[in-house]
Order: sequence, then structure tokens, then C-alpha cells
Amino acid sequence: NNHLVIMAGGVGSRFWPMSTEETPKQFIDVLGVGRSLLQLTRDRFESVVPHDNIWVVTNRKYVHMVQQQLPDMPTNHILCEPCRRNTAPCIAYVSWRIKAQDPKANIVVTPSDHIVTDPVEFRRVVSECLDFTADSDAIVTLGMKTSRPETGYGYIQADLSSSSLRNKEIFRVDSFKEKPDLETAKQYIKKNYYFWNAGIFIWNVSTIVNAFRVYQPVMSKLFESLLPIYGTEKEQEEIDRTFPECDNISVDYAIMEKAEEIFVCPADFGWSDLGTWGSLQMQTRKDIYGNACIGNNITLVESHNCMIHTTQEKKVVVQGLDGYIVAENNDTLLICKLSEEQRIKQFSEMD
Ligand code: GDD
Ligand code: MG
Repeated sequence: NNHLVIMAGGVGSRFWPMSTEETPKQFIDVLGVGRSLLQLTRDRFESVVPHDNIWVVTNRKYVHMVQQQLPDMPTNHILCEPCRRNTAPCIAYVSWRIKAQDPKANIVVTPSDHIVTDPVEFRRVVSECLDFTADSDAIVTLGMKTSRPETGYGYIQADLSSSSLRNKEIFRVDSFKEKPDLETAKQYIKKNYYFWNAGIFIWNVSTIVNAFRVYQPVMSKLFESLLPIYGTEKEQEEIDRTFPECDNISVDYAIMEKAEEIFVCPADFGWSDLGTWGSLQMQTRKDIYGNACIGNNITLVESHNCMIHTTQEKKVVVQGLDGYIVAENNDTLLICKLSEEQRIKQFSEMD
């Protein structure tokens, strides 16, 4: 039985000040299409998994936004984390929760901050990978073609000689490196066998649970010990008690960099991670000077390659800037070089 897990508990701190602790980017209609990134994520998987097998894992603070934005989700499929511990504990929790209910589950896990421009091809690829993991103990990643030395992604080194498996375009992975430094990323993108990790994972429930047992034994014990109470009224109380004990670590470091039986399906469905202002700039229609503007009353004079974002009815005039982000939200104004955007998380935490 196919299940979908949507991870929607991040803060999106590199998208500050649009994305904030109170309202992270996945709950925002970033593209101006009338649907939030979370809603677009759910839409994208329509017909891939049965409606009743969709799970959203989020922080307690955001449960009400998930309910509001996905009103037909059964409430007991919105899993609530009492504190932020990154994606490894999130995946461990939902995996044991699903296992308790459906030990034969086959799962696709997705972030909620992506754009996909070819949803038909997307569904074809994901369905093919789900077919593969239905009866193989494999961790399957989706490999995106690299185009720049991005340091905010994970890199997958594929063994392209491993010949595709069972006539599917799925290859063994030699190594997985999460968020390399710039020099390393520059070396990787020269090679055609390195791919970006899309952050979407496909596996059956016993494979991922076993991987946690091997590589994260302490975390595993916590969630394993709750097997008898998943789905009961005790669940939340016990999660509130044990979840804070988990290490704060992403699944990429906790499992992907360590595991052996990893596979990659190279794919091309117009993928982009809306992780930073630069990525939004790339997705937005630009004027002839390369400026991307989102907002109602923006005037640019002698400016090039800027990303301007306003949320209020505020008149904004920008003169003489080249390659800058100007973003304003409520009581905050950010002016930052696009080339320094990886530092925005740090800026958002400054007093
Ligand atoms: N429930 C929950 N709890 N969700 C979380 C948490 C958490 O504590 N932290 C992050 N998430 C959600 C985010 O909302 C997002 O949808 C997803 O998990 C991924 O987290 P990001 O913080 O956006 O990860 P990333 O973009 O830095 O890196 C990941 O994605 C890249 C591609 O987009 C990695 O998997 C990289 O390897 C990958 O290249
Ligand atoms: Mg991301």
C-alpha cells in the first residue's frame, strides 16, 4: 500500500523575512498562484497514493495551518512534533507510526518547499520508484541534473555502470554528500555522475525502520518503544515526552550519508527547491534587466538582476542596485547581496 509523507515543519530561514517562525514558507502562496507550497505539494501527488494514506508531519505551532490548508486531511494523519529536531526524528516518528498501522507500507517522503513544472512526468517517476521499493529493500533517491555549484543541496554520486535495475532507470549510489563546501561542489558538477538530491525519498517501511535501527539506534529505540500506543489517545502525550530526547539532525546526515543500499533514479521534471531568494528569482518572470519583482508598487531605476519582494501596499523605489535582494515583511526590511544569501539564516537570528 502506497503512503505519502509530507514534511512541513521547517522554518525556511533562508527565505526570511517572507518566511518566519510564525508562518514558514510552506504555508505561503510564494508563487502567487492561489495555493501555498504545502497545497501544491499535496496536489502534485494526486492519484499517486490513496487519499487516506497521506500524512503530514509538522511542528505543534503549525498544526492549525495544516488543518486550514488541507481541510479534508483526517486529523489523526497530521503528526505533531512538540519541538524542532530536523528531518531525521520527523521521518523516524512517522515511519514507526505507519508501521504500527500498515507493516507492509510503501512510502514516498517529500519536502513541502519544491516546485515541479512537469507533474505528469513527476507522477510517472515516483510511481516507478514505488513499484521498485514495493519488493526491494532499497532506499531510493531522485537525482536532479546539476547546473551550478549549489552548496545548499545534497549530492549523489551514482554508479552509472551498475546498469539500470529491472529495466528501470535506477542505479546504485556510490556516495552521498550533504551540503558540500563550494570547492567540493565545483568539482562535483564537472562530473556527469553527480546529481542533486531532490530531497524526495522512496522506500518500504521495513527498509527505513531497519536503516534507523542500524545508523540511529538511540532514536530507533525511542520510537520502537511506542509501538503499542501509536494511534491511541496516549500517542501525543508519549511523543511530547520522548521527542525532545532525539538528536537534532537531518535525515541526510543521519541516514543518507551512512547507508549502503542507496539507489538513485535520475529524473527531469522541472524541479526546483524554493530554498532561497535566488531560487525564487530564477522561477519568476524577469524584466529585460534581469530583475524579478513580486509586489504591487515597485519601481526600479538603473538596477539589474535584483529580487524585490514586498508584501504590503508600500511604494518601493530602488536605484542603482545590482544583484541584490530587497525583501520586506511587516516590521522587517532586508537588503542583502544575492551572492551572500546563504547567510540570511544567520541574519534572521540577529538582534
Ligand atoms: N516535520 C518537520 N520537522 N519537517 C521539517 C523539519 C522538522 O523539524 N525541518 C525541516 N522540515 C521540512 C521542511 O519544511 C522542508 O519541507 C523539508 O523538511 C526539507 O527541509 P529543508 O530544511 O528545506 O532541507 P534542505 O532544503 O536544506 O535540504 C534537503 O533538501 C534538499 C533539496 O531541496 C536535503 O534533503 C538536501 O539533500 C536536498 O538537496
Ligand atoms: Mg529545502
